[in-house]
Amino acid sequence: MCGIFGLISQELVSSSDVLKSLKHLEYRGYDSYGIATDTGLFEKDVGEIKLTSSNNCNIAISQTRWATHGGVTKENAHPHHDCTGNVLIVHNGIIENYMEIKENLQTLGHKFQSETDSEVIAHYFEEGIKAQNVEETISDFFNEAKGTFSVLLFIKGSDRLYAFKRDSPLVIGIGNRGFFIASDPYAFSQLTQDVVFLEDDEYAVLTKSRFSIFDKSGKELSRGKNKIELQKEESRGKYEHFMLKEIHEQPESAEKLLESLETRQKENLLAIADAIKNSQKAIFVASGTSYYASLLGVYFLKKAGIESQAIIASEFKDYANCNEALVIALSQSGETMDVIDALKHAKQGSARIASFVNVPYSTIQRMSDLSLQTEAGQEICVASTKSFSNQIILLLTIAKELGYKINLRKIAGEIKSVFALENGIRTLAHGLKDKHDIYIIGRGLSYPVSREIALKLKEISYIHAEGMMGGELKHGTLALIEKDTPVIALIDNNESIVSNVREAQARGARIIALTNRKEKLFEEEIKIAAESDAGFAILATIVGQLLAYYIAKEKGLPIDKPRNLSKSVTVL
Ligand code: AGP
Repeated sequence: MCGIFGLISQELVSSSDVLKSLKHLEYRGYDSYGIATDTGLFEKDVGEIKLTSSNNCNIAISQTRWATHGGVTKENAHPHHDCTGNVLIVHNGIIENYMEIKENLQTLGHKFQSETDSEVIAHYFEEGIKAQNVEETISDFFNEAKGTFSVLLFIKGSDRLYAFKRDSPLVIGIGNRGFFIASDPYAFSQLTQDVVFLEDDEYAVLTKSRFSIFDKSGKELSRGKNKIELQKEESRGKYEHFMLKEIHEQPESAEKLLESLETRQKENLLAIADAIKNSQKAIFVASGTSYYASLLGVYFLKKAGIESQAIIASEFKDYANCNEALVIALSQSGETMDVIDALKHAKQGSARIASFVNVPYSTIQRMSDLSLQTEAGQEICVASTKSFSNQIILLLTIAKELGYKINLRKIAGEIKSVFALENGIRTLAHGLKDKHDIYIIGRGLSYPVSREIALKLKEISYIHAEGMMGGELKHGTLALIEKDTPVIALIDNNESIVSNVREAQARGARIIALTNRKEKLFEEEIKIAAESDAGFAILATIVGQLLAYYIAKEKGLPIDKPRNLSKSVTVL
């Protein structure tokens, strides 16, 4: 994971401005950070980025880290340097064969200061440039390194900034007086809209007045620039956390998506619906929350008479036969490495790729033959909320094009009705905050919702939660139900779910029914005003989001940046 940001400028830039840009990438990892400049600054620390640095520079590289190799320490934070301290690098990705490279370098006398895989890059270049230039060493590195990397490198005393990448993203921003380079354009979207994306196995050499892009053998490439418009979300407004703000934005983001699907995105919507209808098979691929949305996609398409399957991205290669398939990737970030890897695998065969992404210009969108945007706006909290409901609405709209009967005109109003329940959810959260385990059960379209609510409870509230098919409880998990074990039961119109809930209740479970049924079934009930089953899925999820939020708040947890996680998961 991690976010990297660098710049090279004709004018002096303050290091705190560099860190301000880096801060926009903090959602990619936030356990430690650091910066190095051509004017001698070398600063790193654990924890979130502090903007107190004061140094003026023309070249800077910086990184915000999500630890993979080596613990969260100052030594392991980036930048890293070689033995001389002259070669400085920041890295995003994993050098899989770093031990082999490190051992070779150690036999040549190199001493290492960190436990990271990344530090080998600096030493590799120290060794390489003894005999050849930096560009030639980059070509060698491409041939020798295994794994994923985007790297920014500069050498003290030189007026060049180098960047090279494989799998991890890198984008150059063209400024008035120099260039920016970062893991994604959010780092500099407030400074320029003109960008150039680097593709895999390419490198860039940047000076203060120009930059050139080369393939890994050193052949110069010509590359046009793109103009991007990114809506950058900076403020929490009246909300204490981005999570709560993003939950409350769902009525507006739903309307925005629906409007775009009738206008700007209409053509692509019809093209994707057509591609699904005409494909031999449709396979969804996604991770985490987006995977649960894609399970709902399978449900909705089935209702429209179309068979499809959803395969979790990290297992895609072993479970999917994607010849002649339409592979549909769902991803908020558009950068999830498991999904990218699955798509690369699919592309090796005869699959076509479609995607639904929230972040425009993201890698997954650029890899796709067809793509739609989920239009949820920037989502800052690590936990996905508004992007999930918009993924569902997008899937429903496609299913509708293919024959599923659904009316989405009232969905924004239905979502708003959930906010009237907030006080009750808060009280429930207070009562559940000390529980070690919570079970959520659903059937049919409520099953993916149960998984999504459980994920929210785990990642935000740090409570072990299991979302499962109601019918599966009796096949084993029922053994874990004791007196007062909380079971959140998602009771829509599916008939069998009530029997499953009774089975848990008979073993002493505390049943918290989340239902849109008129009749009273259980003592403890949260009634949601969903008219359709699909509406139930969205509204029940939002109740789950609020519950996770208020439990985490009761516990005083870092809601927007939960421990050990990152918003964009760019490692396999
Ligand atoms: C959601 O709350 C999680 N943070 C996580 O599971 C996420 O959905 C997953 O990593 C996939 O991300 P993507 O949608 O950006 O591909």
